[in-house]
Amino acid sequence: MWFRKSPVVPCLLLCVALLGPSCGPGGVEEAPSMRGLEVSEFGSVDGHPVKLFALTNDSGAEVRIIEYGGIVVSLSVPDREGTMGDVVLGFDDLESYIADTPYFGAITGRYANRIAKGTFEIDGIVYELPVNNGPNSLHGGIKGFDKVVWEGTPTESGDGVDFVYVSADGEEGYPGRLESNVTYTWTDANELRIDYESTTDKPTVINLTNHSYFNLGDGGAGSILGHEMTINADTYTPVDATSIPTGEIAALEGTPLDFRQATAIGERIEEDHQQLHFGAGYDHNYVVNRDGPGMALAATVHDPGTGRTMDVLTEEPGVQFYSGNFLDGHHIGKGGTPYQHRSGFCLETQHYPDSPNQPDFPTTVLRPGETYSTATVYKFYTR
Ligand code: GLA
Repeated sequence: MWFRKSPVVPCLLLCVALLGPSCGPGGVEEAPSMRGLEVSEFGSVDGHPVKLFALTNDSGAEVRIIEYGGIVVSLSVPDREGTMGDVVLGFDDLESYIADTPYFGAITGRYANRIAKGTFEIDGIVYELPVNNGPNSLHGGIKGFDKVVWEGTPTESGDGVDFVYVSADGEEGYPGRLESNVTYTWTDANELRIDYESTTDKPTVINLTNHSYFNLGDGGAGSILGHEMTINADTYTPVDATSIPTGEIAALEGTPLDFRQATAIGERIEEDHQQLHFGAGYDHNYVVNRDGPGMALAATVHDPGTGRTMDVLTEEPGVQFYSGNFLDGHHIGKGGTPYQHRSGFCLETQHYPDSPNQPDFPTTVLRPGETYSTATVYKFYTR
């Protein structure tokens, strides 16, 4: 390693002359880039082959996304020893995703989260949606955006995939032909960036998110109760017994839902608090603290065991923290792993639940001529 002692010039010479291993700023030899994008098939639905896109970054960290539901099927990032591990819950095959999934990794829409009693009104017209969650409509209805085939195309930059889906006027009860573009980008800084864009030909409502279940341990085998959660929110939207917001924006201070200081998810989850009873644990929309529009930090999660840490940044006003309360071991996931109670958590960036019926919440109405445009970043590192 002769060039370590006289870093700059020999390093440049070596890189240019040999086109060999790249050199870091200190002249230290770096591993060759592992960057790549591979396309393969992940089964088929109704005779339509479903593509899988594997995006590998410079350091070998990899995300795999399929056209069915735009599902993130795996996301491998290093622990503090540098060992790669898959940090999202999911299945090994398409049939399992089709048969029974609690939205593992999927794009949810046209309206992510709940609309009370499956009804809303725009410009005096009342729309009825299928009710699929107690008395309410959840995650876009019976066949939401998580259950349709998106058409994926690698982006020009080669580090992302653009997914397109056109939802017909009246699909699942929603008005307007809605054209959506969801672009996943996987950067060398281990950031999964998701850009959402939609347009409509009639006034409609929209709220898109990604429903990945994370477990920063390995592969979702263990509990997430020891993960330390920080949520950048002073307030949240309390819910009724059917998880519909009451309309109030309430302070978190003094409640077991307050995550302004890093706290283990399991530390207060069994406390006797009405909101924790209603959600069967954490299943609440937090109002992200922000100075203005643009990207804001919504949450940071840290697994003390592996050192893996995730920041969630978003342009959305809210984030649903769901602690995997309805997982009960019956989903047999990747590698035959039964996903037990609270073995994954979600941080679904979003507009507030039931906004179409809450005039004081930020609007989710999209009109012809307007473009819905929003972005969220999941960033992984260790400490
Ligand atoms: C969302 C909801 C939860 C639950 C999950 C899926 O996060 O808020 O109540 O329905 O989806 O199981």
